[in-house]
This record gives sequence, structure tokens and C-alpha cells, in this order.
Amino acid sequence: DLHDIGVVGMAVMGSNLALNMADHGFTVSVYNYTPDLTEKFVKERPHDHITAYYGLQDFVSSLKRPRKIMFMIMAGKPVDSMIDQLIPLLDQGDILIDGGNSYFGDTRRRYEYCRKQGIHFYGMGISGGETGARRGPSIMPGGNKDTYSEIQPIYEAIAAKASDGKPCCTYIGSDGAGHYVKMVHNGIEYADMQLIAESYLLLKTVGGYTNSEIANIFHQWNQGELHSFLIGIAADIFAEDDETGGQVIDKIVDAAGQKGTGRWTSIEALRQGVDISMITAACNARVMSNLSQRHMAETVISGPEHKLVKGEKFIEAVRRSLYTGKIVAYAQGFSLYRSASETYHWDLDYGRIASIFRAGCIIQAEFLNKITKAYEKNPDLENLIFDQFFLDKINANEESLRQIVCLAVQEGIPIPAFANAMEYLDAYRSPRVGANLIQALRDYFGAHTYQRTDREGTFHHQWHEHYEK
Ligand code: 6PG
Repeated sequence: DLHDIGVVGMAVMGSNLALNMADHGFTVSVYNYTPDLTEKFVKERPHDHITAYYGLQDFVSSLKRPRKIMFMIMAGKPVDSMIDQLIPLLDQGDILIDGGNSYFGDTRRRYEYCRKQGIHFYGMGISGGETGARRGPSIMPGGNKDTYSEIQPIYEAIAAKASDGKPCCTYIGSDGAGHYVKMVHNGIEYADMQLIAESYLLLKTVGGYTNSEIANIFHQWNQGELHSFLIGIAADIFAEDDETGGQVIDKIVDAAGQKGTGRWTSIEALRQGVDISMITAACNARVMSNLSQRHMAETVISGPEHKLVKGEKFIEAVRRSLYTGKIVAYAQGFSLYRSASETYHWDLDYGRIASIFRAGCIIQAEFLNKITKAYEKNPDLENLIFDQFFLDKINANEESLRQIVCLAVQEGIPIPAFANAMEYLDAYRSPRVGANLIQALRDYFGAHTYQRTDREGTFHHQWHEHYEK
């Protein structure tokens, strides 16, 4: 009997997805570039619906047509190499699916490359880590729309289900759209995590709270509008005791890694001319956290004396700042979707994107329902912050965010995500941002022209030298 789908790559994500598919009644062929992982997988986690293959030809021949082959392998060269190994073994109309964190530009190229040879290539964003892959991730497929129905039943079955029972999987758009949406999801994940880290830092250093108090605060927050996977696991982390005494969190080196998707998002946003300052700030915060000169800088750059600011009011101001920062981070990420949708002709459905982030993925949160609602009300919404629900929240919390930013600056606590959220709102709402002077300077030194407040048209001024330089 031929099998429903093949999975290439038997590391943790690939094997968990294969098991997830098998649990949902699909028959799965599995293959890995080296036999060791496959052997280990079928020995340790056997499943009636899963069959292992050790040769690529046998693997391909075991599949129903059109064949569906999913890659869960390292992004980059290995994907190109696997495509090239498979194409000679495939037939017209067969389907390749890349479920890794591939760069969307690569996916666009691969989509074209495969299309020319009659093969359908899907770039599929998958979020949710190991548990998500096993129990239900959020899935973002991009590729040929006409053949999507071939793979739809499998992915809708294995995807996480939101509270209304709907699968967290929806067709995103052509070529690289799925990987693009996943990339920006990760960018938002960076900003979300940075906001959470800054809240923790403030509670610990300015508030002077213990880990167990902070665990309680986060647990409380998780009962309300901040309810989300990341806040929930942060509460768990603060509560985790270390075998050597105290909590594990205090034993972890204060330097964060990154694999690149956040950085891709920032670079892409600069290209698109979209301000995603919070995501960029979150990337930079990780970079700064790794600087070896930090220990030296601590002794040579002066800073303020700390004073403690404790109390319910302070905790509530941090909570409100976190919520407002989150609104801005998502507004920035979704602005990038909007711009990309036009640039790459994807016709992205922002409300649906938010709806498949409701469960399964790392940024899953209560909050995403509100984003879906905002776009349902107005699909052309220019920026999420102008949806009435978010606007009311921003206006109710603006003072808290400003207080927290001022306090942190006064206390010398780095809070780049909070500060950039405030900057973004201020830049939006300020009647004057000083850009008239930028234009004047450009016109002075380069005749770049400017527009006038009182007359239509484009002007250049003969600027005079009033002072000796
Ligand atoms: C997810 C995560 C996942 C992963 C990233 C983290 O959605 O499941 O985003 O893709 O954890 O690799 O990225 P960094 O290593 O860059 O933090």
C-alpha cells in the first residue's frame, strides 16, 4: 500500500510531526540523510502508521501520487541539495514542502525553480517547538493555491485547534508568503520576549521583588488580558528551584542567542521602509547582551544610584506597559505584512494570520482574537493602533508606559523595547517631529527640495550663509 506523505529529516521536529500525522490516521514514510536518526526513531518510538526507508528511491516509490514530501531539515544548503536529489525521482505534479525556518527569499527562488520542472513547492512556516510539532503546531503554508487542497487535510488535521475548534493552519499566499509570515512571527516573538524580559528586569532591580514574588506576579498577569503562552512559561521559570539552592533563573548567564529570523525581519523591514523598531530593538538587545566588554563597561561608565520603587501601583504600571508594548509590537509586525503583501503580490489576509496564531505557536495569546476582530471590522486598517479597541487601550495606558520608561531611564535600566514602543506612539501623534529641518538641511546642501505648508508645489530655496563656518 502506498503512503499518504513522506517526511525527510528525523531530528526532533521531523519525528514529532511524523508521529502527529500518524496519530491522525495518515500513513507516513520517513527518511533521513543518514540512517542513524531513522533507526533510532523507529526503534524508540514505533508507530503502526510509520514506515522507515533508507534509500531515497524506495522512500519516493512508497508514496501515493501526487507524492507529498515534507522536509524537516536544516535551512539553507541542505534544502537545495535535497530538492536536487529528489527532482529526478519525482513526477509532474508532485509536491515538496519545506517546513523549516527557511529564508523567504530562498523559498521564492525554490518555488520558481521547482515550478519550471513541474513540481509544486510549498514553503511552510511551523511554530510551536517540539511540543507543538507533536501535539499541534501553528502552520503557515505558502505556495501554489490550486494544489493546496492536496495537502490541506493533512495539515489541518495535525495543526493546533483554537478555542473555537478551528485549525491553526490556513493558506497564506503564493511562493514565499508562508515563510515570510513565519519570519515576522519570529520577529514579533523577539519583541514579545524582550518586553517580558524588561518587565522582569524592572520588577527585580527597581521593584526588588524575589523570584517567587515575580512568579506570582506573572501568574496573576496570566489570568487577565496578558494571558499567553510566553507569560505562562515565564511564571514557571521564576518558580523553578535550582539543585544548588535559589532558582535556576539566577544561574543562567545573562546573554541571549539567536538563530537569525529576528534579524531577517529587521533587515527586510528596512528594505520595505516599515518601522518595526521594537523588533529591531529586541534583536539589538540580544546582540548587546553578548558584548564581552560589558563587564569592563560596568566599571568605567557611570550610572545612577538605585532606589527601590515597590508596590501595587508600580507592578500595575509595568503590566500596563507590557500590554501597550505588545500592541505596538504587533502593530509594527502587521504593518510589515501589509507592505509585503503589496510588494510581493500576496494578498495576505491579516485577520486570518492572527487567527492561526491563537494556538500552537510561541506567540499564542488571548490578545490575537482582538487583532482578528480588528481586521474583520476593517480589512483595510492602515495600522492596528487605530482600531478602536487598541486605541482605547493605548490611551488608557499611555501614562503608565511613559512613567515606566522615565523611571527606567532615571534608574539606568536598559528597556529598549518599552522605550521604542513609547517613541513609536510619540512619533505618530506628535504634531511636530522636526522633519522640516531635515528637509531644509537636505535642500541646503543638496538642493533636494521641500514642500511648503502654505502653498502647493515643490520648492528649492537659495539659502544664505549668515555665519562664518
Ligand atoms: C517557533 C519558534 C522557533 C524557534 C526559533 C527561535 O515559532 O516555534 O520561533 O522557530 O524557537 O528558532 O529563534 P531564535 O533562536 O532566533 O531565538
